[in-house]
Amino acid sequence: MAIALALASLVPAAPVLAQTGAPEGQQQFDRLWLGSAWYPEQWPEERWAEDLRLMKAHGANVVRIGEYAWSRMEPEEGKYDMDWLVRAVRLAAKYDIKAVIGTPSDTPPAWMTQKYPDVSQIQSNGRKVGHGGRRQFSISSKRYRDFCREIVTRMAQALGKEPNVIGWQIGNEPTDESYDPEARAAWVAWLKQRYGTLDKLNDAWTTQYWSQSYTAWEQVPFSNDKANPGWMLEMKRFITWQWVAFHKNQLDAIRAHAAPSQFITVNFGGLGWANRFDRYAANRDLDFTSWDNYVGSGHLKPYRNGATHDLVRGWKRKNFWVMEIQPGYVNWAGVSNMLYPGETRRMAWQAIGHGSDGILYWQWRNALNGQETLHGSLVGADGKPVPVYAEVQQIGREMAKATPAIAGTHPVSPVAVLQDYASRWAIDFQLHHKDYDQIEVLLDYYQPLKDALGAVDIVEAEVAPLAGYKLVVAPSLNIISETTAKRLADYVRGGGHLILGPRSGMKDSYNALEPQRQPGPLAKLLGGRVEQYYALDEAIEVGGGQNAGRATIWAEQLSTSAPDTETLLRYGKANGWLDGKPAVISRKVGKGRITYVGALVDDSVMKALIDGALAGAGVARDFAVPAEVELMTREGQGRRIVILINHGRTAQTVTLPEPMTDILASGTKSSVALPVEGVAVLQRGGK
Ligand code: GAL
Repeated sequence: MAIALALASLVPAAPVLAQTGAPEGQQQFDRLWLGSAWYPEQWPEERWAEDLRLMKAHGANVVRIGEYAWSRMEPEEGKYDMDWLVRAVRLAAKYDIKAVIGTPSDTPPAWMTQKYPDVSQIQSNGRKVGHGGRRQFSISSKRYRDFCREIVTRMAQALGKEPNVIGWQIGNEPTDESYDPEARAAWVAWLKQRYGTLDKLNDAWTTQYWSQSYTAWEQVPFSNDKANPGWMLEMKRFITWQWVAFHKNQLDAIRAHAAPSQFITVNFGGLGWANRFDRYAANRDLDFTSWDNYVGSGHLKPYRNGATHDLVRGWKRKNFWVMEIQPGYVNWAGVSNMLYPGETRRMAWQAIGHGSDGILYWQWRNALNGQETLHGSLVGADGKPVPVYAEVQQIGREMAKATPAIAGTHPVSPVAVLQDYASRWAIDFQLHHKDYDQIEVLLDYYQPLKDALGAVDIVEAEVAPLAGYKLVVAPSLNIISETTAKRLADYVRGGGHLILGPRSGMKDSYNALEPQRQPGPLAKLLGGRVEQYYALDEAIEVGGGQNAGRATIWAEQLSTSAPDTETLLRYGKANGWLDGKPAVISRKVGKGRITYVGALVDDSVMKALIDGALAGAGVARDFAVPAEVELMTREGQGRRIVILINHGRTAQTVTLPEPMTDILASGTKSSVALPVEGVAVLQRGGK
C-alpha cells in the first residue's frame, strides 16, 4: 500500500499530455462535405480544369491537396514553389470547390534524406528506412521538425488567408516512431521529467525482478521489444508524446499565419482501433479529427465499422471527417475486391449517420506509376469516370439535398462505452489467452446497445464527462487510476449505472498489479471482488433466472462481501473451480448501480444483461427496426434526423413510430421500404 501511495504522486501525465474534460464544442459546418484526394502535381496543369469540372459534376464541394508534394514545393533545399498550389486552389474556387491543404511531412524529398541522413527513421532493429517509399522520416529529429516547420510556414504564408482554403491536415496517417540517437535522448529526458529519480522509476516498474534495476538513466532500454510491461507502457506514452510534439510543431506554424476560420486536423488513418500511440492525447490540440474508412477484402461489417466511427467520434467527442473512403476497391488487401453496387453509398451514409461531416474518396485519379496504380479511383487512367463515379454522383445529389437538415447535427447518446489505451496495451502485453481480443470484447457490449439505440458513444475512460449518461459500460478497464476510480465512483453515487467487464481494475497507472483484488479501487463500492481469474480452454455454462448460455475464453470467480450485493449470474457445470460460483454481481448504490461481469459471455447472455441494464437505468430504447437494418440518429439546431440503412441481402420495410419527412425521396412517410443497399434519411417532426 505504501508503495502504491508513493507511486500515486507520479500519476499525472507530463504536461504535454495534459488532459481536459470538455471538448470546445462541436465544429459547426454549414454543409456536408464531399470530395476526394487530388494530386495536381502529378498531372500537366492543362488537365486540372477538366478534373475539377468532373469533380463538380459529381457534387464535390471540397478537395484535399498537397499531402505528398514536398519535392514539388521545395525541389531544392531552400527553393520554394508554392505558386502551383495557389493556382490549383484558385482554380478549384472557380468550380466552387473548397480546399483542405495537406502538409507534406510524410514524404521528405530525396535531396534532404541524402544530405541529412539524421532526418531518416531508424527502426527498432537498427535498420535505416531508405528512400523510395514514404514515412522514411524520424518524428524525433530536430532537423526534420525544423524542415517541416519551415515548409509549413511557407505554405501557411501562401495559403493561410486564401478564401478558398477551409482547413489543414498535418502530415498523413501518423504511423512509425523512430529509434535514432535523438529519439533516445528524448526518451531519457521524458523519463527524467516523468519520474524525477531512478528510485521512483525502479519502484514503479518493480525492477528488482530479473535484476532490471537501473543506476543510470541511459541504461533504460529503448526499443519495441517485448520486455517489462511497466517499461512497455512508458514507451507507449513516450511515443504518444513524440507524435503530439511532432504535430504541434506544424500546428503552431500554421496557426501563426492562417485565418482563424481555417481548421487543423490530422488524418489518423485506416485502422481506427490501431494503438501504436494514444489517440486521445494525439487529438487534444486539433480542431476535429479524421480517419480513413476502408473495407479492404470482403464487405462492410456494419457493427464493427459503425463502432469504429463511434470510437473516432469519441477521440474529440465531436463530429469528424472520413478523410479517405474506399472508392469501390483498394490495392493493398489480400483480395482487393470491388464493393457491391450500392455499398459505396451505404458506407457514405453509415459514416454520416455516425457523425461524419466529410466524405473524401481516395483517390480522384491514380498516378500512372508508383505503388498505388491499381487502387480504386473515381476517374481512370484515361481521365474519364469509372463505373463507381455514377454512384458517387448519386451520393453527391443526396448529400446536397440532406445538408439543410443534417448540417449542425450530431449523434447524441444516453449511453457510453469506455475505452482506454493504457488498458488496451496492458492486456495486450500480457494476453494470457491468445484469443482475448479486446475489440471483440468491446463489440460484444456495443452490439446490443446499438440494437437498442440510434447512437452509442465510445469515450475516453480517464476524462470524458459521465454525468450525462444513464448507463456507462467499461468492457476492459484493466488499469484504473485513482482519478478514474474516483470519477467512476462519483458517477455511480450520483445515480449512474456502471458495468465493468472482466479484467477490470487489475493494474495501476504504471501497469503494476494492484495490491488489492479486482476491481481494485472499486471493489469496496461493488461489495465484491474477483477471487481468481481463469483462461478457459473449453466453454462453460453460465446462467441465472431466464438467462442461460455459455462463457468462453475468460471467466473470473467472483464473490460478494456486502449483504446487498446481488449475484445475477452463476457458472453452471464449469471447470471445477468455477462450478456454481458467481459470474456477474451487482450492487445498487442509492439511485445508481455498479455491476461486474466476470466472463466473456455469448451473445444471448450479453443481450439479456444489456437489455436488463438499459431497463434498470431507465434508458428509453429507440424504435425497433428489422435485424439487418441499422438505425442512426443525429440531433441539433432543433432538428432530429433518422438514418436507416439496410445492411442485409433482402429487402426490408421499417414501420416508423410517427410520420417522418423523407429527405431523399420527399414526402411524409409512416413506413419506409428499404431495398437491398437501401438508405433512407428522415426528419422527425416538422421541417
Ligand atoms: C491510406 C493513405 C493513402 C493511400 C490509401 C490507399 O492509408 O492515407 O495515401 O495510400 O491508404 O488505400
